[in-house]
Amino acid sequence: MTSFNDTSSVLSFLKSRKSGSAKAMGPPGPDAAQLAEILGIAVRVPDHGKLTPWRFVIFEGEARTSIGEVFAKRYRELHPSHGEEPLAFQRGLFTRAPTVIGVVSRAAPHPKIPEWEQQMSAAAVAYNIELAAAAMGFQSQWQTDWVAYDREVGKAIGLSETERFAGFVYIGTSTAPLEDRPRPDPQALVTRWSGA
Ligand SMILES: Cc1cc2nc3c(=O)[nH]c(=O)nc-3n(C[C@H](O)[C@H](O)[C@H](O)COP(=O)(O)O)c2cc1C
Repeated sequence: MTSFNDTSSVLSFLKSRKSGSAKAMGPPGPDAAQLAEILGIAVRVPDHGKLTPWRFVIFEGEARTSIGEVFAKRYRELHPSHGEEPLAFQRGLFTRAPTVIGVVSRAAPHPKIPEWEQQMSAAAVAYNIELAAAAMGFQSQWQTDWVAYDREVGKAIGLSETERFAGFVYIGTSTAPLEDRPRPDPQALVTRWSGA
């Protein structure tokens, strides 16, 4: 494992990481080499049983527009009385960022490894994408929104009956200054086991 010559800069990076906002994200996004590097980092996560219980669906360029048609059609089916404005928003959902990575959980029954553990590994994958993107100077936001949960959308994207989205990670460059949010005090979340 690589050791750090400058531990303090790695720690300051981790201490200051925050999400971008898909609402304020534009180009540039990662190029092909950077995206490959992000995915290489994404798969370097704890994975009990080495099951690789996740995979990726990449949305870039025109694909973001064509998936928008799927979203809009499905949204119209679900909300027939809604007007054109929300429809336009749904159509443009993935065009808000240059790159959107769908992280698919492939968790499945296994004799030894609970599905919960496989799902948690997918969450680690999504977060590693965020860390890698941030390390390259991009902003990212992990979103689920309704599109991650809708089975028809999932089917259109090619998910099997047992697969589900851990989420979509939007990656790009922030078009507005990023505000941090108040963070929980970790000490307030700690108890110490001191024996029975
Ligand atoms: C599984 C998951 C799903 C999320 N879905 C959404 C979402 O649909 N919309 C949204 O605005 N934020 C969503 N978030 C929250 C953002 O990813 C992010 O945590 C938030 O913008 C705060 O940023 P921070 O990472 O700097 O705390 C989700 C987070 C997680 C872990």
